Amino acid sequence: MRLTMVGTGYVGLVTGVCFSNTGNHVICLDVDAGKIEKLNKGVCPIYEPGLTELMERNVAAGRLEFTTDKSKAYRDADMIFICVGTPSDERGHTDLKYVHGAADDIADVLKSLGPKQTPKVIVMKSTVPVGTTLAVRDRIRARVGPEIPFRVADNPEFLKEGAAIDDFNKPDRVVVGVEDEATGNAFKDLYDPFVRNGHPIYLMDILSAEMVKYASNNFLATKISFINEMANLCEAYGADINRVREGMCSDKRIGNAFLYPGLGYGGSCFPKDTLACIMMGETRGLSVSVSKAVHDTNQKQRDRFFDKIQGHFKSQGGLSGKTLAFWGIAFKPRTDDIREAPALTLMRKALGYGALVRGFDPVANENARRELGSGPVILEDMYEAAKGADALVISTDWDEFKSPDFGRLAQIMRGKVIFDGRNLYRRGQLGEKGFWYYSVGRAPVKPA
Ligand SMILES: NC(=O)c1ccc[n+]([C@@H]2O[C@H](COP(=O)([O-])OP(=O)(O)OC[C@H]3O[C@@H](n4cnc5c(N)ncnc54)[C@H](O)[C@@H]3O)[C@@H](O)[C@H]2O)c1
Repeated sequence: MRLTMVGTGYVGLVTGVCFSNTGNHVICLDVDAGKIEKLNKGVCPIYEPGLTELMERNVAAGRLEFTTDKSKAYRDADMIFICVGTPSDERGHTDLKYVHGAADDIADVLKSLGPKQTPKVIVMKSTVPVGTTLAVRDRIRARVGPEIPFRVADNPEFLKEGAAIDDFNKPDRVVVGVEDEATGNAFKDLYDPFVRNGHPIYLMDILSAEMVKYASNNFLATKISFINEMANLCEAYGADINRVREGMCSDKRIGNAFLYPGLGYGGSCFPKDTLACIMMGETRGLSVSVSKAVHDTNQKQRDRFFDKIQGHFKSQGGLSGKTLAFWGIAFKPRTDDIREAPALTLMRKALGYGALVRGFDPVANENARRELGSGPVILEDMYEAAKGADALVISTDWDEFKSPDFGRLAQIMRGKVIFDGRNLYRRGQLGEKGFWYYSVGRAPVKPA
């Protein structure tokens, strides 16, 4: 099949590369000329394990191309996947300007091809409020007139950054919303190589497919806010959330996925998708109190953690002039994505209180410098970042932070204080090594 990906972000690029890898011819289009220039030089603009190698292989085989040329990208495509961003605006509503921009571009090319063309399938892969795909269909129809044939579908994406290739190649399920059987069959053919493990392709109506994505993300966000609320109760009553987690999660009905306490969720999906559910509910006059509580709990989780940092330094004149080192800036490990990352919130707050901020992330340093400007000092080595710090904050659970050289840290840091937002360490271990240790849902530890 000839496929076009609109947008070469985390979803568009991974989807395009993986579809080309099963033999399809894929054109990846982006309006960002800088990204396309990089891609055409063989440089992957995002960090995603395994992506560069797969990209190189399929470019070399002549199955994968990158362009800013809309006409070239849309002209010969059988299916066009809209994979552009759908961020929240300042009121929490989904901003559809990129989706509409892409739809208008597609419509203009369809119109230029005339009524005799084979109908292309325009697929919404971006996460969009329920009803958007059909509204986009109507928008395109209004722009091209009644004669031009095309079909629409919704195919939400469930990949996780950091494990995106694996998730795409071996999806738990594929969800597709269609209006007709022929389009459904085209999707069965396209995804067949990805579901040989027996995992299902669910064909359904478009509105339900759009809702599956929100329901899934909102549920995962709920699990995170729930366990963080339990962690806060543990702190208040002297229980240990790690023990509680073990006891609770061994119940098969509960399970242990997505039930890790920490700094709350970040990234480009959960925060905006939870807000979108709230907005969809309010638009129809529905009570969406669970979604609201999930969102509020998540916002407060970062504040609570920052309160711990401030609380420790209160008797030492507050944070002004203190140096805080942050390990981890990406919103989660194995990605360079810093959108809505808890580390950014904590760093900005610390700077606001007059602290000096140092930071290190294995792959997100460049994005952090771009986002935060000259406020914090971003360093290329985790120990360099910790040098001279009054406290170390663990803000992302990268593997390399899990067993650090505590002896070295004790020597290079000015203060021996660790604020662990990811519960990476054993409490006893840190006290014995002479550190103050604060984590989430567990009592703080004093140096032994
Ligand atoms: N990032 C994830 O992990 C993830 C997972 C599942 C679903 N999603 C959803 O997928 C969508 C895309 O997310 P993302 O993280 O890949 O976004 P992104 O911001 O990384 O990439 C979007 C790209 O689209 C490009 N673009 C914008 N308008 C365009 C146009 N008219 N023509 C061509 N390109 C255009 C932008 O330049 C950008 O490169 C969102 O709706 C998101 O909610 C994301």
